[in-house]
Amino acid sequence: MTTEAERRIASGPGPDGADAQAPRGGARRQLDRLWRRGLEFLGSELAIMGGAMTWVSERQLVAAISNGGGFGVIACGAMSPAQLDAEIAATLALTDRPFGVNLITLHPQLTELIDVCARRRVGHVVLAGALPSSAAVGRIKESGAKLLCFAPALVIAKRLVRMGVDAIVIEGMEAGGHIGPVATGVLAQEILPHLREVPVFVAGGIGRGEAIVSYLEMGAAGVQLGTRFVCAHESIAHPRFKQAFLRAGARDAVPSTQLDPRFPVIPVRALANDGTRRFLELQRQVLDRFTRGEVSQKDAQLEIEHFWAGALRRAVIDGDIETGSLMAGQSVGMVTREQSTREILGELIEQAVEALMARGRGGAAESENSSRSRAGV
Ligand SMILES: Cc1cc2nc3c(=O)[nH]c(=O)nc-3n(C[C@H](O)[C@H](O)[C@H](O)COP(=O)(O)O)c2cc1C
Repeated sequence: MTTEAERRIASGPGPDGADAQAPRGGARRQLDRLWRRGLEFLGSELAIMGGAMTWVSERQLVAAISNGGGFGVIACGAMSPAQLDAEIAATLALTDRPFGVNLITLHPQLTELIDVCARRRVGHVVLAGALPSSAAVGRIKESGAKLLCFAPALVIAKRLVRMGVDAIVIEGMEAGGHIGPVATGVLAQEILPHLREVPVFVAGGIGRGEAIVSYLEMGAAGVQLGTRFVCAHESIAHPRFKQAFLRAGARDAVPSTQLDPRFPVIPVRALANDGTRRFLELQRQVLDRFTRGEVSQKDAQLEIEHFWAGALRRAVIDGDIETGSLMAGQSVGMVTREQSTREILGELIEQAVEALMARGRGGAAESENSSRSRAGV
């Protein structure tokens, strides 16, 4: 069944038809003007990237996002070069639209993974994790692929641009998965006005089209959403993982807790569950043993780091939502039902277009104020 939102996205800006459609068509064209740089960079119909999510962003979801007009990104995660090769081939069989591949810089076989992308002529590579080496940047650029990197601060974004990176993703701490300390709204103000050399995509906490428009108006070329796509019909996430998302509100998606500054914990945002409580307990026990001299600092740190090994797979694939890792962003509160990817994208576009139309009428706040004053409140 095709929904109204899906029809709108399919028809795009279209010619102005009936009078009632004229403002809508104008707003849709305005959206295309706002994210033109993103569209040209990605080669997609919508400058909405489906942020790579390890175990979730495989062939089905990636192809569905790209076929829906967005830009899907395969999450390589800990895949071997052979597994990544198979995943790219399978995705190519499902879509002829552009998509990208996300590689983690700390992967021990990063060079081989880059070579797999080069052989498969992947058009866009996203490097996540620690800052990339110039060797990795050079190898990706030599393959002809466009390179996107995450930048947690303006100075790092500038350095990445000097290294030859083609686009930057800024991701705030509202996001699901590994996070930095700064909120998306602050990062956007810190970076967007001062980084014009390359397109910048904003991620973290985006759940509706109005927010997309706001970041585009601030100078973003496009956006990246992860959490919003987890409960897509095409997502292979286990039904229990999806249920946890559907039940959760923004306040349930919390950052990992670190008990002692001597034993750093990687900041990850996830839904609180028994696993997060056990993790605190483990830190307490390890700290006690360290204080009693029963374990070295190095071994204690390793024990803490190993706690979550394999936990995302357990949750996403096996459906262990009690002790697995339920990585989710604060926008999880806006995930209220399972929908097709097309429907999700259609809704986002519809909300963005409505927001632009409201601006044309003098702004949503202004029209609400005037109706309130007419109502005498
Ligand atoms: C379950 C999950 C797994 C993720 N895995 C990765 C990953 O492997 N690589 C990466 O760069 N980002 C990863 N992310 C971050 C997403 O790509 C995206 O940037 C983020 O979800 C955007 O914020 P949002 O969740 O508020 O939409 C993950 C996010 C989630 C929720």
